[in-house]
Amino acid sequence: MNVLGVYGLHHQFGKQPEVLRGISLDIEPATMTAIMGPSGSGKTTLLNCMSGLLKPTGGQVLYRGQNVSGMSGTSLDQLRRTAWGFIFQSYNLIDALTAIENVRLPAVFDGTRMSDQTAVQALSSVGLAELATHYPDRMSGGQQQRVAIARAIATHRDVLFADEPTGALDSESGREVMDHLAGLPDAGTTVVMVTHDPMVAARAQRVVFLYDGRIVADTAGLTSHQISDRLVDLEAQA
Ligand SMILES: Nc1ncnc2c1ncn2[C@@H]1O[C@H](COP(=O)(O)OP(=O)(O)OP(=O)(O)O)[C@@H](O)[C@H]1O
Ligand SMILES: [Mg+2]
Repeated sequence: MNVLGVYGLHHQFGKQPEVLRGISLDIEPATMTAIMGPSGSGKTTLLNCMSGLLKPTGGQVLYRGQNVSGMSGTSLDQLRRTAWGFIFQSYNLIDALTAIENVRLPAVFDGTRMSDQTAVQALSSVGLAELATHYPDRMSGGQQQRVAIARAIATHRDVLFADEPTGALDSESGREVMDHLAGLPDAGTTVVMVTHDPMVAARAQRVVFLYDGRIVADTAGLTSHQISDRLVDLEAQA
């Protein structure tokens, strides 16, 4: 069964023209999919509809057969606590908590306990064991993003939604973050990621291109050069 199914999705903010104009997409388990397209093409809106942050004005999103768009706030909260992880361009860590406390946070909300060992192992797997007791505001952007990934690793997220996860990073930190993100499907996590960067997108098995709220290409196995060429073509149309 697919992890996520998007069927005839439409979205419109108020009375403005539609931002999503009929999007259908099946996401297979334990894969990484990149969503690309010119600025304003609807990438973030699509991701937010998929993760229940935004209620689409038409169509459906199914998560393992459950209708996300029709779910109550409580059921969505439950999924966020137990099954879904999020990584945004700004790292969404809590500055008053250390790295290890940030990693353990979902387990705290969940009412389950996470051992120090599990949290430290997750931090080690992203190369941050020594920074376990440091606070995020003393870390580089790349380190903060790796803490966010460690959190997803430690809590075994079924799906990780990432919006421009390397958007605020220099290319070296971006590459490190991607090395860790790209390993998540091997551990069973399905990653859906929005990015502008062809090098980042080339790490995904599949790249879906949006233009003006529609899917215009659904590709696999493209090199970063080929991805970049496609984007240039799309931006020329914009
Ligand atoms: N909350 C909102 N209210 C009104 N319009 C919005 C809102 N959020 C997004 N839009 C509009 O919807 C369109 C798509 O926005 P979206 O953020 O999905 O694009 P994007 O592809 O993620 O762009 P970018 O690459 O710049 O992040 C844009 O025209 C944007 O101005
Ligand atoms: Mg966006």
